[in-house]
Amino acid sequence: MAKFTILASITTILATLGLAKLSANDALAVNPCVTKEFKTELARDACAKGGQPAAKDAMKAFMKEAKLKSCNACHSKLAPNYELKADGLEQFKKLGGKVIAGNAKAAPATAAKAASK
Ligand code: HEC
Repeated sequence: MAKFTILASITTILATLGLAKLSANDALAVNPCVTKEFKTELARDACAKGGQPAAKDAMKAFMKEAKLKSCNACHSKLAPNYELKADGLEQFKKLGGKVIAGNAKAAPATAAKAASK
């Protein structure tokens, strides 16, 4: 009987710990994206909808279609800042990812012209 009581309280403790862990994860789930000026529609739309977790999901779906295996093909680092490799955006474009018009390649010549006005 005593054995049973101990077991019951262990179960209660474990359940409580489990709940605490869950809510900590929930708090993380609303991490906003670090990018402020998006170059891709994919990331912009996903980040607007659900922050980094949504962006991750969108990236995963994109990779599946592009038949890529690793996030590190384009990112030099993952969480928390997801730094891109020098050719990360280029790869994304080549694989058919949609970039936001006018933002992806600000041609230096055009930029200089605009500045001199
Ligand atoms: C084909 C290249 C490519 C691959 C593979 C890729 N990403 Fe990305 N990712 C990008 C680009 C490009 C951006 C920047 C988007 C922008 O500026 O609009 C980005 C942005 C992100 C962001 C937004 C970061 C922020 O906070 O602003 C997250 C999160 C992310 N990627 C996660 C992932 C994860 C997780 C994987 C693997 C499942 C992955 N990416 C694989 C190209 C890629």
